[in-house]
Amino acid sequence: MFTQLNAIERAALEALQAVQDEAALEAWRVAHLGRSSPLMKVFDEIGKVSKEERPAIGKRANEVRHTLEAALGERQEALRQSALARSLDLERLDVTLPGRRIALGRVHPVTRTLRLIYRIFADMGFQIYRSRDVETDEYNFQLLNFPPHHPAREMQDSYYLAGDYPEDNPLVLRTHTSPGQIRAMREYSSQHPQNPPPVRIILPGMCYRYEQVSARYEIQFNQVEGLAVGKRITFSDLKGTLSDFARRMFGQQVQTRFRASHFPFTEPSAEMDVECFVCGGEGCTVCKRTGWLEILGCGMVHPTVLQNGGYDPEVYSGFAFGMGTERITMLRYRIEDIRYFWSNDMRFLTQF
Ligand code: DAH
Repeated sequence: MFTQLNAIERAALEALQAVQDEAALEAWRVAHLGRSSPLMKVFDEIGKVSKEERPAIGKRANEVRHTLEAALGERQEALRQSALARSLDLERLDVTLPGRRIALGRVHPVTRTLRLIYRIFADMGFQIYRSRDVETDEYNFQLLNFPPHHPAREMQDSYYLAGDYPEDNPLVLRTHTSPGQIRAMREYSSQHPQNPPPVRIILPGMCYRYEQVSARYEIQFNQVEGLAVGKRITFSDLKGTLSDFARRMFGQQVQTRFRASHFPFTEPSAEMDVECFVCGGEGCTVCKRTGWLEILGCGMVHPTVLQNGGYDPEVYSGFAFGMGTERITMLRYRIEDIRYFWSNDMRFLTQF
């Protein structure tokens, strides 16, 4: 039986040399360590061996079993390692290949203009105040001195929200950033009702009007509103601030002029023009032969509006202004059609 066990061991170890994959290994295990393998037959027959020989045979049989099991384990690990090496070989990276260029996004031209405006006013001590896009009729019109049937409300055909809102105060997508003036003043003045702090803010944001879309009008556009309120603010502060803004925005040489105008929430009201920087004031198609470009509306905050914001018009005064960011961007970059801004056309966007 010893000779038999030696032969079993030798044959099994020899056969194992030929095993090259998992399936063959499993077949080997069944053949040499399985229930009906020659080795297991030896275990089955051990009872027939004489009492004296039995312990030695049993010991040797167990030895062979352990040897074969250990060899199986080793072979399994070796197969695993070589499979891994093969897969590493297959997935080898050539680190010397040139990389793929990552396409960089760009800043939208209107965002560029907005950022420039923020910087200029930040340098002059204005903070940014963000106000809501969805307003009540009260804030968008009434508190700004537009009475319910004021003709100025016709100019701004509005998007009212469908829903169960009071008839005299429906919700509306803001048609301008001016309602933020009331929100800001009310927030500031509620903190110190007896002695409200001065205000010096700009209010940027999207506005919405029900327009026929054309080269000049979009239904959605940005405005930057400005508001300064304090105890001795005069029209010359307005002129100085806005002329300085124009010079920082369009160049130190640029001339400005103020024309009388009308807005319900300012008194007096004006519009500021800058000298046409396309033709230098000579007259061209951009300035429609006038030599001037209209940039913004402005004025001294109407006493009623100050009052509505919680500021006593006997003590406080202020100026306000509002400008269309798309219009200014069109002038800066000579863009002829406002619809480009929302067209998502890469040929347009990659120019900035
Ligand atoms: N809200 C005005 C508009 O949308 C623009 C404007 C004009 C804002 C004069 C102001 C201002 O603050 O003082 O047309």
